[in-house]
Amino acid sequence: MSPFFTKSSKTATEIIPVTSAELDKWLKSQDEMTKNFVKARDFKASPNSFVSIPDSSGKTKFILAGYSKDDVLYRFSKIAAGLPKGTYTIKSKMSEKDATQAAIGWALGQYRFDKYLAQKNDKPNKLVLPKNANTTEVESTVKAVTLVRDLVNTPSNDMTPSALQAAAEELAKEFNAKSKTIIGDDLLKKNFPLIHAVGRAYKDAPRLVDITWGKATDPKVTLVGKGVTFDTGGLNIKSGASMGLMKKDMGGAAHVLGLARLIMENNLPVRLRVLVPIAENSISSNSFRPSDVIKSRKGTTVEIENTDAEGRLILADALTEACSEKPDLLIDFATLTGAARVAMGPDVPPFFTDDKALAKDFMEAGEKNQDPVWQLPLWKDYISMLSSTVADICHTGAGGQAGSITAALFLQHFVDEDIKWAHFDTWAWRKSNRPGRPVGGDAIGMRTAYDVIKKRFGK
Ligand code: BES
Ligand code: ZN
Ligand code: ZN
Repeated sequence: MSPFFTKSSKTATEIIPVTSAELDKWLKSQDEMTKNFVKARDFKASPNSFVSIPDSSGKTKFILAGYSKDDVLYRFSKIAAGLPKGTYTIKSKMSEKDATQAAIGWALGQYRFDKYLAQKNDKPNKLVLPKNANTTEVESTVKAVTLVRDLVNTPSNDMTPSALQAAAEELAKEFNAKSKTIIGDDLLKKNFPLIHAVGRAYKDAPRLVDITWGKATDPKVTLVGKGVTFDTGGLNIKSGASMGLMKKDMGGAAHVLGLARLIMENNLPVRLRVLVPIAENSISSNSFRPSDVIKSRKGTTVEIENTDAEGRLILADALTEACSEKPDLLIDFATLTGAARVAMGPDVPPFFTDDKALAKDFMEAGEKNQDPVWQLPLWKDYISMLSSTVADICHTGAGGQAGSITAALFLQHFVDEDIKWAHFDTWAWRKSNRPGRPVGGDAIGMRTAYDVIKKRFGK
């Protein structure tokens, strides 16, 4: 069990959730002391508020917490982070979904990245797992989100291509999944030229991790994640300010590893494949260059216009490989464009798909899970922006507009038309502290994607 939970406790302090609408009714059944205390503290059960109700000796008798049925998750993040150290239990008849969300929120709000700090953080507040919560879903979600955060937060001097490979292999091993990795010049021998080109300038070689899990006869779900362990921009070097956050450029890889954990730990009846192209976009005499033309795995020749648009290149070869075994669903995650952030800000990752039913599922799951995503169009007219005079396709869009869309259209070129495919352009990062969402690496869109996979392929 993760350190945020316990199965039972005789000494746990009760948390009583009340909505602002229910507060008056609830108070009627309480003693004078409690009524007066709540009034004196001007407690209105408003969002994110809670109050400790003392007994006659001044010790905490229970916690009265503001609660709202449409924000269970982050309410409990706020409560967990604000209470004094101890063990707590929620006294309320909650639905399975709410109890599960409350427990997940409890843990997400207490995450701290203290690996590099001499002074480690205190032990977290513990919650007695609510009886009707789905324990496996709670535990697997907390572990998956923690995995994403840890991987993204780890700086690139430690999160090298080999280290990211090791993290993927460790996950595979835990669930008895098969894993193989193609490294360095073998990428050329096995025809992954774009992955090789992007990563060859760094001393820790580029690679492609390929994990498979589950019964061969189950529906095939394939996940692909951008694993750029640091993005200098390459020869088209980024400015200092925009390079600062680029340790998180393996966020897509982290998202698909987290998703894989969710799928495997919840034992979804799917045949899972996870492809993680890994490269550091570095600078050296053998860097790939603007104006180079590289023949991709698919056979299409690609004109390199800007070495900073490296993510779509490594994804292209991985997507070609993904399509070779005709998956029933193909999803990729990538910290692909700054343009996605300009359009949508940090919290709402755009996703792209031509499948209307799939898009509807993502939109609905985003709202339901408080993990919003939003569809942008694969606007076919803009394919012309990717034209090249020297190669079959250019990897960046001319004119500097619709950057997230043209990146997605470039990816689509490498996905067979008959494959159900969705691409998420996520930021994988929180820049301000909010309940349940501490500053730093985060899973954004992952819980939503899992919910859709579960809905479509679950038992
Ligand atoms: N890793 C970046 C995208 C990125 C930038 C994500 C900032 C989050 C925040 C990607 O490799 C990149 O540099 N893309 C370029 C593409 C451009 C050169 C066509 C971009 O978005 O500016
Ligand atoms: Zn880049
Ligand atoms: Zn990048």
